[in-house]
Amino acid sequence: MVKKPRVLLTEPVFEEVAGLLSKHTELTIGQRGTYNNKEKLKDEIGGYDALLSMLSNPIDRSVIEQADNLKIIANHAVGFNNIDVEAAKQKGIRVANTPDVLTETTAEGTFALILATVRKFSDAERSLREGAFDGWHPTGFLGADLHGQTLGIIGMGRIGQALARRARCFGMSIIYHNRTRLPLETERSLDARFYPNLEDFLSECDILSINCPLTDETHHLINAQTLSQLKPTAILINASRGPIVEEAALAQALHENRIGGAGLDVYEFEPEVHPLLLTAPNTVLLPHITSATNKTRKAMGMLAAGAILNTCCGLDYPCNYIT
Ligand code: DGY
Repeated sequence: MVKKPRVLLTEPVFEEVAGLLSKHTELTIGQRGTYNNKEKLKDEIGGYDALLSMLSNPIDRSVIEQADNLKIIANHAVGFNNIDVEAAKQKGIRVANTPDVLTETTAEGTFALILATVRKFSDAERSLREGAFDGWHPTGFLGADLHGQTLGIIGMGRIGQALARRARCFGMSIIYHNRTRLPLETERSLDARFYPNLEDFLSECDILSINCPLTDETHHLINAQTLSQLKPTAILINASRGPIVEEAALAQALHENRIGGAGLDVYEFEPEVHPLLLTAPNTVLLPHITSATNKTRKAMGMLAAGAILNTCCGLDYPCNYIT
């Protein structure tokens, strides 16, 4: 009998995804959070042919060095900053992620975060639940408009572009800062202006949305100095990866009213949230949920599982390999 490949799914996902994997493989499902430390991964990874990982699993070179039987790491996320892709490549391990299926959902979630932050919906709802609603107030919970404002997008990839399309429908102007300029045709269709210089770009943003991946170059791209280049009324939105923003500097800027507010879905030391962010004014804090819909999370799981089944079982499911 042919031996089934041994697969480690580091935490429970949709039944359909686990069901599909268990049909073709010998599947082990970890308990939520157990593999968020590399010692546990290092101890166990040698016993598996495939890994279906979460973005919270630190798969660095030291883990990969122990992965003597591993053929593929399929990350249940589009972002793959938790994986040392170069080390995997050197060891002949394929890496896959889950782009496209989450683009529109994440853009919707990010746009909802923009609206909630700009219009102070979290503070207003909290105050109502605390019993403080005493009727319509001409000057209560005043926010800003979106129409006529400038949305600046750092990282004009798939999600950045999907966000830009939504912002256009709300009457916003779009500017962007990116490693490379988009083709002119794409720029025209989005009606987006390219700013190669970060300082010029930041000084124009009414709302700044971070949509780039976390890399060595983007780590702490937003720090005390770059925050000081924003307008004092600017709103910062981050639904990409926490460490792109130096959280302590952001918290300080918010407390000193040096920027207008922030909407965050991701954190520098996730799941820790800087204590000063919890008390910062004009701030909406979400627990990394902008891609969280039933349809999208299931599709992400299926895409990751597909890469494992293709690599280890010679099947033909949709998937996306990075290497
Ligand atoms: C991703 O896929 O990288 C997201 O952060 C998960 O929602």
